[in-house]
Amino acid sequence: MSKSFFTLLFSLFLMSLPIATQGVSIVPLPKHAEQLSGEFEISASTKIVMQGKECMPVISLFQDVLVNNYGIKLPISSSGKNIIRFILDVKMEDERYELKVTKDEIQLIGNNAGLFYASQSLLQLIQIADNGKLSIPNIKIIDEPRFKYRGLMLDVARYFYTVDYIKKFIDLMAYYKFNVFHWHLTEDAGWRIEIKKYPQLTQKGAWRSSTQHGDKQDRIPHGGFYTQEQIKDIVKYAADRHVTIIPEIEMPGHAMAALSVFPELSCTGGPFAIPLQWGIKEEIFCAGKEQTFEFLENVLSEVIELFPSKYIHIGGDEALKRRWKECPKCQERIKDEGLKDEHELQSYFVRRIEKFVNSKGKQIIGWDEILEGGIAPNATVMSWRGEEGGIAAASQGHDVIMTPNNYLYFDYYQSKDRANEPIGAHWYPLPVTLSDVYNYEPYTDRISTEHQKHIIGVQANIWMEMIHSEANVEYMTFPRALALAEVAWSPRESKSYQNFLSRLSLRLSELDKKGILFRIPEPEGWSNVKIESGMAIIQLTPPVAGSVIYYTIDGTDPSVYGKIYQDTLRIPLKLTGANVKCVVQLATGRYSGIYTLSSD
Ligand code: ACM
Ligand code: ZN
Repeated sequence: MSKSFFTLLFSLFLMSLPIATQGVSIVPLPKHAEQLSGEFEISASTKIVMQGKECMPVISLFQDVLVNNYGIKLPISSSGKNIIRFILDVKMEDERYELKVTKDEIQLIGNNAGLFYASQSLLQLIQIADNGKLSIPNIKIIDEPRFKYRGLMLDVARYFYTVDYIKKFIDLMAYYKFNVFHWHLTEDAGWRIEIKKYPQLTQKGAWRSSTQHGDKQDRIPHGGFYTQEQIKDIVKYAADRHVTIIPEIEMPGHAMAALSVFPELSCTGGPFAIPLQWGIKEEIFCAGKEQTFEFLENVLSEVIELFPSKYIHIGGDEALKRRWKECPKCQERIKDEGLKDEHELQSYFVRRIEKFVNSKGKQIIGWDEILEGGIAPNATVMSWRGEEGGIAAASQGHDVIMTPNNYLYFDYYQSKDRANEPIGAHWYPLPVTLSDVYNYEPYTDRISTEHQKHIIGVQANIWMEMIHSEANVEYMTFPRALALAEVAWSPRESKSYQNFLSRLSLRLSELDKKGILFRIPEPEGWSNVKIESGMAIIQLTPPVAGSVIYYTIDGTDPSVYGKIYQDTLRIPLKLTGANVKCVVQLATGRYSGIYTLSSD
């Protein structure tokens, strides 16, 4: 074999390596990344150069992160060597960017969101050596998203989270290139948005006397709401990070907080209290009364003023029809409008609201129930009961956001071993594992190629019936959100779960340093036991950079009695099953749950 052939083979081998194995661990994986030899060092003489003064907001955020993470403030200069150059290219598509790192200069090129995403990728590339030296491997990246809608939803209506926490969550979203925060603001259990015309909505409707945890009540008053000033501040904060906020005002169901304040908007007239039990309620807005529409239009008018988003989410899910069946006014409406049944009455309701929202220059999104009884002409559908609603809507030419519960409900458990996790949505029998999320493919072949363009993106939802702390929000959201980020952003062809896990490891150690309480995944290899000559062969990789695996093979607690995993384990088969356990300990000292080798 000639030497040059060998060299060619070797360079082909290098090229085919996933970029993570060469030290580049961006999540979501960029469309094109070519690692070059050498590195850029961030030193005391490094300066920032801006081409286009519109770069300044992105630069400020970048500077802030460097100060917070590494204690260095990079000055802005007009030229020089050893520079990080931000270049505004107004001709570039909005979210696309280029990032070029060479020994003397880093260039970030993009228009608006693209420039921001270039900076987020750059932040992920910074390596810190033991002596504190900051470096960035030389690389050339050309990147753009697969889907234009990349969302996460927080249900702050069932459980309230502070302004500061919402901002922290938005920061994390933006870092992984999510661009939509869906804010579920109203529910049976609470109304969380100040409406000037109806101050009672938050004076009374934002507060309840107790919260149900599992099957117990805590009898601790709970509540809170966002003032319009706070909302404007959060909307701006998100916009600076290229995150659009879509508010959701639920109708006609999930409305008991509003009906507890204005029982006259229900079919029966009430009175009602905010329910303390989770679950779907019979009481919904009366579709026969004009004052219902007057109220909702007044509310929506204020909402539309606050949120620059093109979309307003109007809910539409789980509206039980019993009250409408029994209500003379609703029945009169059905007759007057020539409707067939209560499903068509819901369709009338949504169409009427859509017309109002459209008249203000906005579009509606609704949960997939809005298809029942006929979908409103311009509505976008959020498919949550699996993908069925999304398939039906896309096939009728409507835009769709896929958020199927069986892949993207992040209140569901993350493993089969529920005893090992904080309480989750126990009513759903299956876990939504990290690999389930990663392997979710929004382009189902049950939608014709011609209609696939209507799948505009994906979203995960964090419902709060069972989640009542910031710690648990983080446990449920991470690392699954990183898997979703990749579904939403990275090319379908580049998908590899193994490659994702190898990049995830650095990202999780970074989240650990930030104090984010993500679920620590099982070590890689934990579910891939090989059997050879009566022995179980277990080869593990720590799931988080810098973490340590402790194991036992006698069923005892590995965080107390475990040995440090160093090399392949060979365990006689008769000792496996429930006897082999491990825990992962992060660099900051935090332990994972105890993982038990499953016998199947
Ligand atoms: C939903 O989960 N009810 C949208
Ligand atoms: Zn009614």
